[in-house]
Amino acid sequence: MRSLISVRDLTRDDVMGIINIAKDIKNGKTPRMDGDVALLFLEPSTRTRISFEKAVRTLGMTPYTVTDSTSSMVKGESFQDTILTFAFLGFRAVVFRIPFTLFPYEDLVNRSGISLINAGDSSHQHPTQGLIDLFTLTESFGDVENRRVLFVGDILYSRVFRSTAPLLKLFGARIGVSGPRTLIPRDIHVFEVEKVFDDVDEGIEWADAVIWLRLQKERQRDNLISSEKSYFMQFGLTEERHKKLKGYFMHPGPVNRNVDIDGDLIYSEKSLIKDQVRNGIFIRTAVLSWCLG
Ligand code: CP
Repeated sequence: MRSLISVRDLTRDDVMGIINIAKDIKNGKTPRMDGDVALLFLEPSTRTRISFEKAVRTLGMTPYTVTDSTSSMVKGESFQDTILTFAFLGFRAVVFRIPFTLFPYEDLVNRSGISLINAGDSSHQHPTQGLIDLFTLTESFGDVENRRVLFVGDILYSRVFRSTAPLLKLFGARIGVSGPRTLIPRDIHVFEVEKVFDDVDEGIEWADAVIWLRLQKERQRDNLISSEKSYFMQFGLTEERHKKLKGYFMHPGPVNRNVDIDGDLIYSEKSLIKDQVRNGIFIRTAVLSWCLG
């Protein structure tokens, strides 16, 4: 039995193990399991929540969804006590999305004695999205080693960047970032970023693949951009930039149309967004199987 809270805890062998299970599932070889899985979603989500729910059912297990308004956390129960309650109720795993950072987490993982799977904790981690992005790029390139991947946009608040970039580095990819300086973290060097591009067009010329990130409107507190229109013109995927892209582009979703990406280009022939969404079910089924198997 394992938990998955941060990609920083995964070795190359762990990641290959999960990806190989995902490939088998994609080829129709799905493992079967029994028991109950709680989906504790205290923040909105479409693709992560629904694909985890489908993954649980695919394995033959039963999902129980609890949202912020239906959990006793609204009456003051702590997150830790909520997790322990699921463990006492006999659940085998809790998949959680929360608006705060879970760190440190080892004590809770040990005390609960069940699998805890992070589906997004504030700006900290979103490990299954990182695995989806690595899997999707690996399918397209065959191998990400030495591929240049550019992340564009709101790096500061992005749990996707903090999950996808370390996984790509683990497999030898080269990382660049571009965005308003106000949305680039001061400690960007800890992610072993090769280049910070103030001019996104230079970054696009450098990159083999580009991952546009969502401008996290709900987390902007200090007017870090002047306007959505100017942000789009400076860093968004416009028609002109789309023509210059050498390879594919991705976006973890949900997309802010005409802020992150021109609405007419979201599903263009250079887009891997549909693949990311579809691979979500395979990766999340594989993660559950890896954690509980
Ligand atoms: N990418 C992602 O986490 O999307 P949702 O918020 O819809 O789950």
